[in-house]
Amino acid sequence: MSLKEVDSTNTFLKNILSNSKPVPDGTVIMAETQYAGRGQRDNTWHAEPGKNLTFSLLLKPGFLSAQQQFDLTRAVSLGVYDALYPLLRDSLKIKWPNDIYYGDKKLGGMLIENILQGSQIKNAIIGIGLNVNQENFPDNAANATSIKKILQRDYELKNILAEICNHIEAYYLHLKAGRFEYVRNIYLSRLYWLNEQRQFKSNGQVFEGVIKNVEDNGLLVIDQNGGEQAYNLKEIEFLN
Ligand code: BTN
Repeated sequence: MSLKEVDSTNTFLKNILSNSKPVPDGTVIMAETQYAGRGQRDNTWHAEPGKNLTFSLLLKPGFLSAQQQFDLTRAVSLGVYDALYPLLRDSLKIKWPNDIYYGDKKLGGMLIENILQGSQIKNAIIGIGLNVNQENFPDNAANATSIKKILQRDYELKNILAEICNHIEAYYLHLKAGRFEYVRNIYLSRLYWLNEQRQFKSNGQVFEGVIKNVEDNGLLVIDQNGGEQAYNLKEIEFLN
């Protein structure tokens, strides 16, 4: 379904589900404009109307437990990555946990909201924002880029959406078939700053370290002079 304007495609899907309306597995809600787009860490998500992809995909991964939520994050991130790889090649990276980067700039991100039933994931609302044809970004989004800024041409949003959904489905089927290790290994290999000596900030302290792994629970493992420490999203900032 394609909407002209909505608060947030994630919120829209969440509201339908909480009214106990049946929503089929694989439903996609796309919006031309979101006036209250939501990002990670309680951020807002802005996109120029009609220029970018802002959509939510509903999956019903009843075969995944609450402990396997990060496997779904990996699968979705890799789906977006694979859809864009033919266009953008090796400068494309996944910045932990699920930002899509081109070089040192952010192309897109996702907000995955899982609704649990007991210990299983009943519904996964997978919200994806991808900068496609936007050329100018506000000063407070200096770190953002778009496919148009990189490749100097416009792209049809519906085509990119279809590629993304197809590739997410492929990884989703890997998870369904129990190929978790396969998905984990590819995810790690696509990670921004993997095995590079970099600067991070945690708890007000700047330190040098090397990203070594992502734990099954999604924590980022950074090695500092031989000592490894795992961080969640709120605890760590990437500096340079
Ligand atoms: C982030 O990088 O902070 C995540 C951004 C996620 C934005 C998308 S746009 C479609 C969907 N609806 C929302 O309100 N958020 C997600």
